[in-house]
Amino acid sequence: MDLLKRVSDRAKALFVAETVRLHNRPEGLNAFSQPGFNVFYDAGTLIVICAENVGHFEVADCWLAAENMMLAAHAMGLGTCVIGSAVSALNLPELKSELGIPPETTAVAPIIVGSPRGGLTSSARKSPQILKWC
Ligand SMILES: Cc1cc2nc3c(=O)[nH]c(=O)nc-3n(C[C@H](O)[C@H](O)[C@H](O)COP(=O)(O)O)c2cc1C
Repeated sequence: MDLLKRVSDRAKALFVAETVRLHNRPEGLNAFSQPGFNVFYDAGTLIVICAENVGHFEVADCWLAAENMMLAAHAMGLGTCVIGSAVSALNLPELKSELGIPPETTAVAPIIVGSPRGGLTSSARKSPQILKWC
């Protein structure tokens, strides 16, 4: 837990800096400046799916694995959430070393796993945007 809290603290600062640099948009980032906010929502488990080479297909493989894990966790009554805001921090050399991620390996898909506080309810779906029927 202490380790995840430290990763979260690094992630918050990095994510805010990168979002402002890339999008020049600080809106929606308020939570990230709150000392009590944990990007992992105090979940006890973080799974980091990593790639040894970061081509398009390897990255896609990681996300497919992530989806499979999330569905398997759901079937076991567990809650999950992808935490994209932690990706940059998880690729810092010192955190990779602490987490046992080899230097040449890239952290791609972080997923928290825990017991959901409010039960497993489904959320509303957006309608798909169909570009063309052929
Ligand atoms: C690539 C990716 C990165 C995400 N990163 C975060 C994150 O850093 N923090 C967070 O609370 N949720 C994150 N999410 C979860 C989304 O905010 C949202 O809860 C999730 O996609 C489910 O949406 P739905 O309820 O509309 O199905 C991420 C989702 C994706 C697909």
